[in-house]
Amino acid sequence: MSMERQQFMLKSSLFFILLLSFSTLFAVQSKNLYNSCKYCHGYKGEKIYIGKIPAINKIGVNDLITLLKGYKQKSINQYGFGKIMYNQVKNLNNDNIVQVSKYIHSFRDEQVKSK
Ligand code: HEC
Repeated sequence: MSMERQQFMLKSSLFFILLLSFSTLFAVQSKNLYNSCKYCHGYKGEKIYIGKIPAINKIGVNDLITLLKGYKQKSINQYGFGKIMYNQVKNLNNDNIVQVSKYIHSFRDEQVKSK
């Protein structure tokens, strides 16, 4: 194998390793973002909290983003428990909100797959 080809192979493997670590990091971060939510909304967003709040795993990504931004701005209070949610999202930035929304939405895909 030529030196150039070897270098090319080395560079492309390094690139893929880097890419792989980024996607793993992304997955880990999304999971961490959701970590505190699971006590009320369930591990897969399936729980009906205090018998009143519908499962969040059926909500579309865009709706999730809108809802979480609403709670962050303290502009929504759907079931009379808005204050609980204001505290949950106050430290999330817009990127975090998008990320955790996609993560919650992936629970729906998981259920479809397992059927
Ligand atoms: C201590 C319990 C608790 C925790 C922890 C919690 N939530 Fe909630 N969540 C609630 C309650 C209560 C509501 C209903 C608020 C209202 O009255 O509008 C709610 C509402 C929601 C809704 C809207 C549901 C709907 O039907 O429109 C979403 C989405 C949501 N939460 C996502 C999250 C995410 C994401 C986290 C973690 C960052 C989280 N929640 C953490 C209790 C909790």
